Amino acid sequence: HAFETLLLERHDAVALVRLNRPKALNALSLELTTELSQALDALERHPDIAVVVLTGSEKAFAAGADIKSIKDCGFMDVYDSDLISSTWERLTTCRKPSIAAVAGYALGGGCEIAMMCDFILAADTARFGQPEITIGTLPGAGGTQRLTRYVGKSKAMEMVLTGRMIDAVEAERIGLVSRVIPAAELEAEALATAKKIASFSRPIVMMAKEAVHRAYETTLAEGVRFERRLFHASFATQDQKEGMAAFAEKRPPQFKNR
Ligand code: HXC
Repeated sequence: HAFETLLLERHDAVALVRLNRPKALNALSLELTTELSQALDALERHPDIAVVVLTGSEKAFAAGADIKSIKDCGFMDVYDSDLISSTWERLTTCRKPSIAAVAGYALGGGCEIAMMCDFILAADTARFGQPEITIGTLPGAGGTQRLTRYVGKSKAMEMVLTGRMIDAVEAERIGLVSRVIPAAELEAEALATAKKIASFSRPIVMMAKEAVHRAYETTLAEGVRFERRLFHASFATQDQKEGMAAFAEKRPPQFKNR
């Protein structure tokens, strides 16, 4: 399937999805978010794909919503459209793990899309921000909620109220990104990280992802109970038998994804 605004590459069990509107710094047009959601639908169904890496260009992961195409919208145009709806949220319902590999700008909706991934790897050139306040609006794809959960109230409030961009070092220090990588190595490192995850049992990886996500949706006691049920359930898989037998026999495991 060919897309206008995305480039897809397959690296073994890893799908690399590259946002590709270079003339607009990957601004997230309706076409782009629609195609991203269609691509994710296909990758979720694809039996040989285990992990998705989402990336942009050297200069920009994504500079936000496409300001030029929304600037004249009225309330009903944005309320009654697909502008920020299921297409934007598609990443949050992926059961397969997703990694954002961010170089250059991740602003507004770009930062929000990165935060919807399971974790963010940043090039040392990455810059994150929620600049909506500077153009007369506010984050609209989860920024006020997800940024606050990633970095806490003080940083999130400052970033959302001033629009200040942060660099990769600050983003790592405050917990927005999991690691900073030299820009020239970002893609290789993101693919290596994704392949590492893809080498493990897929059902167990899905359970682990589901359990961490639960931490954001429920109380500690409920979350711990949820985790324990999944931990118990992992003992019903062949891969748990294989993983633990391989350890005891001092050999690499051969996971069958069952
Ligand atoms: C449309 C954009 C764009 C955007 C850049 N471009 N960002 N077009 N929407 N968000 C276009 C520019 O108009 C320009 O087109 C080309 O991309 C290159 O950008 P420049 O500004 O010339 O590059 P530079 O001087 O290097 O500055 C980079 C930048 C700046 C700092 C990232 O482009 C910028 O501030 N962009 C807007 C960032 C922003 O406010 N994002 C939040 C959007 S609101 P031409 O045709 O002139 O070459 C949002 C809400 C999401 O995201 C809510 C969910 C829907």
